[in-house]
This record gives sequence, C-alpha cells and structure tokens, in this order.
Amino acid sequence: MKTVNPLFFLCLMLITVGAQPAAVAADTKQQLLAGRLKADQVCANCHGLDGSAAGGGNSAMSPSLTAQPRAYLVARLNDYRVGKIEHPQMTLIARMISEQDIENVALWYSSLKMRITAMPPEPEITTQGANAATDKLRQVCATCHGMDGRAVLTTSPEIVPRLTAQQQGYLVARLEDYRSGKIQHPLMSAVAKNLSDQEIQLLAGWYSSIEIEVDKLE
Ligand code: HEC
Ligand code: HEC
Repeated sequence: MKTVNPLFFLCLMLITVGAQPAAVAADTKQQLLAGRLKADQVCANCHGLDGSAAGGGNSAMSPSLTAQPRAYLVARLNDYRVGKIEHPQMTLIARMISEQDIENVALWYSSLKMRITAMPPEPEITTQGANAATDKLRQVCATCHGMDGRAVLTTSPEIVPRLTAQQQGYLVARLEDYRSGKIQHPLMSAVAKNLSDQEIQLLAGWYSSIEIEVDKLE
C-alpha cells in the first residue's frame, strides 16, 4: 500500500482550519444582528438590550444575561422550552421563539463585554456561619466560578455560568432550587445540598455585590 506522508494531512488540516474563519465571521455577524433585533423586540423589556436587568424590567428577579456563556444561555432557554425548568414568563417566551432565535439571542448576550470595577469586602469573619461561608467561597465555589464570579478552569468551562454582579434574589432562588432538587445538576445539586440558609445569603451577597460596568452599545 502506498503510504501517504502524514505532513499531507497536517497541511490539509491547516488549510481547512485556516479557511473556516472568514465564512464563520460573515455568518456570525448576521446572527449577531438577528440576535440583537430579537433581543430588542422580545427580551429587552425585562433583561435590557445590554443584558443588565437591574436598571429596568418587570421584575427584580430577572437575571442579568450580559456576557453569560453562549452555551449556557442556549441550555437554559431549552430547559424552559422543554419544561425542565418552569417559570410563567420564561416558559412562554422560550416556546414562542424559534431554535434559530435562541442561537441568535444567545450569541448577542454572550458577545457583550463587561468589566469589574470593584470587589466587595469578604464576608466578615465574626460568626461561625460567616467563617464557614468564606471558607466555602474560597475552597468550593471559587474552584469553578472564580472569586470574581467568572468561570475558571473546569472540565467544561462553557457551561459554568457567570455569577458576577448577578441579582442577589436570583442567586438565592437558584441555590435554593438546586438544594431542594427543583433543578437538578450533578455538580450544583451536590454543592448546594450542604449549604445552610445563612451561607446561601452570604454567598449570593458576595457575588451580587461585585460591581461591574457594561460596555456601551454602539
Ligand atoms: C416578561 C419578562 C421577561 C422577558 C420578556 C424575557 N425574560 Fe428571560 N427571564 C425572566 C425572568 C423573571 C427569569 C428568571 C426565571 C426563573 O426564575 O426561572 C428569566 C430567566 C432567563 C434566563 C435564565 C438565566 C440564568 O442565569 O439561568 C435566560 C437565559 C433568559 N431569561 C433569556 C431570555 C431571552 C433570550 C429572552 C428574549 C427572547 C427573555 N429571556 C425574555 C424574565 C423575562
Ligand atoms: C464543580 C464546579 C462547581 C462548583 C464547585 C460550584 N458550582 Fe455553581 N455551577 C456550576 C455549574 C456547572 C452550573 C450550571 C448548572 C446548570 O446547568 O444547571 C452552576 C450554577 C450555579 C448557579 C446558577 C446560576 C444561574 O445563572 O442560574 C449558582 C447561583 C451557583 N452555581 C452558585 C454556586 C455557589 C455559591 C457555589 C459554592 C457554594 C458553587 N456554585 C459551586 C459549577 C460549580
């Protein structure tokens, strides 16, 4: 059998890899514009066009979506769509838009940029509870979410959500959902099972009080 020089394959790979970005970039631009339009029409009322819900919106419980990993947004929207997570407004909305819309809006919100402008003081180590919470923050949460709430190295960094400056009430609600089993996830259910009410408050308080600035939209 005639042997093919392995370099041939390497070159082929490089050519294919090299050839892709241009096509993808054009596609991405279209998708980004479509995502922005859909976000403006449907999501912005509650989540803001720049993803930071705190300023406006119908509910203090609308989470911020700015710079959330794309894969995470797609996964969550599909969870609402199929009823894995139920919520009166989001279930309706996720069923109302198409799969392509989901890809597009997820691209839009994930592409937004934010900067951290101030970190809060660490939870005070005065009581037993706060002490334990600070330890958990450093030794448990930070290994996946980072001290600053931006996902750090894990086996699948794409799906670890950003917690930075997320609404406190929303973080508390989600942690309670994992703890009670209302939402199930192999990692987070195990983590939340061991949290006390006080720890949930303190940890949510830490991540929510990190201050950020979202880049102005063009
Ligand atoms: C009427 C207000 C409203 C509108 C409009 C709305 N949302 Fe939401 N969204 C919410 C609320 C409230 C929650 C929290 C739901 C819960 O507690 O499960 C939420 C949750 C989410 C989440 C989960 C976030 C996370 O961190 O787990 C995603 C993703 C999301 N919305 C995306 C969208 C997108 C994309 C659109 C537009 C297509 C949209 N939403 C339109 C109110 C809204
Ligand atoms: C081993 C990695 C890992 C550790 C440790 C971990 N998390 Fe998570 N966390 C995740 C992943 C992955 C998700 C997404 C789960 C899903 O898809 O439902 C998540 C989701 C969350 C959410 C939901 C956010 C949203 O927008 O819906 C909150 C809140 C959260 N984590 C807080 C914490 C806190 C507080 C700690 C420490 C006590 C912690 N996590 C420890 C990996 C981790």
